[in-house]
Amino acid sequence: MDWLWELPECPSTNTWAKKNSAWLEHGQAVFTQQQTAGRGQWGRAWLAPAGVLTVSFVLDVPGVVRPGFTLGVGLGVIYAVEALCPIQPGVVGLKWPNDLYANNRKLGGILCETMPLNPGTRVIVGIGLNRAVDLTQAPQLSQAISLSEISQTVPGPYELLAKMRFYLLQAHSVMTNQGLTPLLPDLNRYHILQGQQILIQREQEIVKGRVTGINASGQLGLRLASGETITIAQGQITEWD
Ligand code: BTN
Repeated sequence: MDWLWELPECPSTNTWAKKNSAWLEHGQAVFTQQQTAGRGQWGRAWLAPAGVLTVSFVLDVPGVVRPGFTLGVGLGVIYAVEALCPIQPGVVGLKWPNDLYANNRKLGGILCETMPLNPGTRVIVGIGLNRAVDLTQAPQLSQAISLSEISQTVPGPYELLAKMRFYLLQAHSVMTNQGLTPLLPDLNRYHILQGQQILIQREQEIVKGRVTGINASGQLGLRLASGETITIAQGQITEWD
């Protein structure tokens, strides 16, 4: 695979991709089987015991990154998993804005980080996916799930990486040319929070409402108890049904 850089060990593939960005090209990726200091959303640590797939893809976009880019990436990862695993469509779902879920437990997460290019923007698309993790040996991941629990066969890492790349490049091209709109039916179909009552922390306030859907700007629609519908661009969901 001439687009894949594999490191025996690496603190964080996202950090490595950023440091080596000068010579990395669009569509290339860095992968390790041993990520020792992974980073997640909100500055959290991302733990990766054996069997977690950790990779960062390099995707260049013209101009600025459209809102909702991470959601398109998430859909690409789901398509890759569904293409390779004998599971029913929808078993793996998205949780706005950057999580992959199955059976109401976290299967993976996405961390997109941007860097200026001239012209355009480079997105380092970091993906962590619990591929074949023995969660009994990882008590710190008690809320997680592994692909090996929901699929009778589990694809190897290279097979998954190649399929992910295919669907990520496809999502990238759709989003670059047409935005998020063509992806909205699937985004809302795969969204595990659709119609659910949630609590979301937005800056200093907690908002409670029922999820009405994801819009073309990647925002989350919420119907409040007052009947008013609002959209949220950024926030951390703390509880759901
Ligand atoms: C999250 O759920 O908070 C996002 C997790 C993203 C983890 C991946 S693993 C590969 C890449 N390198 C990192 O340091 N983080 C991302």
